Order: sequence, then C-alpha cells, then structure tokens
Amino acid sequence: MFRWLRAKKMSAPQEKMIQNVENFVNPKAVLTKFTNVTGIHFNHKESITTSKLIHFCRNHHITSFDELYSCLESDPDILEALINLLTVNETYFFRESRQIYFLIEKVVLNNDKVRILCAPGSTGEEPYSIAMALVDAGVQANRIEIVSLDINSDVTVLAKEGLYNARSLHKTPLSLQEKYFTKAQSSFKISDEIKQLVSFRTLNLFDDRLFELGVFDTIFSRNMLIYFDESTVIRAIERLGRLARDKESLLFFGHADFIKTPPSLIEHYKEGIKFYTVA
Ligand SMILES: C[S@@+](CC[C@H](N)C(=O)[O-])C[C@H]1O[C@@H](n2cnc3c(N)ncnc32)[C@H](O)[C@@H]1O
Repeated sequence: MFRWLRAKKMSAPQEKMIQNVENFVNPKAVLTKFTNVTGIHFNHKESITTSKLIHFCRNHHITSFDELYSCLESDPDILEALINLLTVNETYFFRESRQIYFLIEKVVLNNDKVRILCAPGSTGEEPYSIAMALVDAGVQANRIEIVSLDINSDVTVLAKEGLYNARSLHKTPLSLQEKYFTKAQSSFKISDEIKQLVSFRTLNLFDDRLFELGVFDTIFSRNMLIYFDESTVIRAIERLGRLARDKESLLFFGHADFIKTPPSLIEHYKEGIKFYTVA
C-alpha cells in the first residue's frame, strides 16, 4: 500500500516544513540513489526532475529530500512509486515495425518454437504487436511464447488489462485492428487470442531475478538504453546477452539506443535491418 494512501493528516509543523524550500534544494543524493537502482540518468533534465520530486514529496507527506532519501532506503513502496513516476513509458503498436516483420519471416521459415523477450515492454504495445504479427503470418499459437518485463509496476497492470486508445494504434494496419481488437467506446481491447501469448512481469533489468526467466531465441530491448549512460548500456547489454539461448539468437535494439556496438555483441545488417547476436 502506498504511503499516501495510509498517510495521516499532517500536523501544523509538518505542513510548515513541507513548504520550507531549503529542505528541497539539492536532490543529488536522491537522484544518485535512483540511478544506482534503475540505471536511468537525468543528465540535463535535473530541474524538471527536481520539480517532480518536490511534488512527489508533497503527495507523500515527505518533508525534505533527506527524508526522501531515507524513505528510498527503507520503504520499497516509496521506491516503487518514484520509479512509476520518473520512468518514461512512451510506446505504441508497430513501432519500428520493420524489425518485427524481419523476425516474422525468420520464424515462419523455421518451424521451431520461438521464445521472445521484450525488455522493456512498457504498457504492452510492443509484445502484443509481435504476437499479432506472428499469428497473422500463420504461426501456430503453441509455437509462441513472449515474456515482457518492465521496471514500472503501473505499466504492467495496464499491459495485462490490454485496453488502448486510438493514438496507441495509429501505426497498426487496419486489417489487424479489425481482427485483434474490439472497440469499447473510445478504447480498443486486445483479443484474448493475442493476450494469452504474452506474460508480463514487473522486473528491473538490474535485478538478478532476471536470470530466472530462462533463455530466449529473440530479445527486443528498444528505447530503454537511451536513458542510461555508456557504462550502464554496456552492463545492460551484457545482462541481456546472458539471456540469449545460443549464438543464433537475435537481439534487436532501438535505432537511438547506442552508437558503438558493445563488445559483447556482433552486429549484422540484412535487408536494411540492423540486428545483433552474442559474441
Ligand atoms: C520508452 S519505453 C520503451 C517501450 C518499448 N520497448 C518501445 O520501444 O516502445 C522505456 C521503458 O523502459 C522501462 N525501464 C527503464 N529502466 C528500466 C530497468 N532498469 N529495467 C526494466 N525496465 C526499465 C521504463 O519503465 C519504460 O517503460
């Protein structure tokens, strides 16, 4: 249960402290703690982040950045709430879809089962797009298993719900919209046929429970590494590489995720698509 749900009414001195700007001058320790846990760096966005943190403290009746730091150390609910506030979860169906169609061709040709990881999957549009494209290409459901993870617990709830607005579907081919969604007022609900192919987990890429997920034939990790610094990108990719089933397993990243190929990967370029295997 989040702290603000169980919060009592503040005493007058507490009210006064929360308005005391000196308590909210330097968020460095809080941000460093956050970066150490999540990998996310704030670089040039420190002032926007500081206002978000002040707002967060006010909502949770926390009276200073020092107190927020202690809460992050001792209260997992506060850490979870802050992660849910500060992560950027932008996504939509069929984003960078050429990578998805490239994979589909390979899977259709090769008759094996396919186990796919989306790390991160945010609100579900990416893993559901892959599932839809596979089913639509005639791949039997019993050959497909997709696991999606994200550090943000709110997006996991939304992904499991599978209810989307029109904006999320703006790149979805009409034929797929008609087959795999039902319209409920202004929302679009993903069909159970697609839903059952994807499982969602709230999980930090830097949490070692990652390795309990098993190994995968294909790994998508798109548009998360852009929030990490260079050494964290290398660390993240090394962890993802350990989840590859073998040297044939494919890894796909977002086009802006990194510039230089990290040492743990081999870059390939085929039919205009960049993809990677483990070195
Ligand atoms: C911009 S979204 C990208 C979603 C999707 N892959 C796409 O390309 O559309 C980035 C996601 O990365 C997640 N994220 C950030 N740091 C993470 C970490 N350390 N472990 C797992 N997920 C993380 C965020 O919560 C967010 O939902």
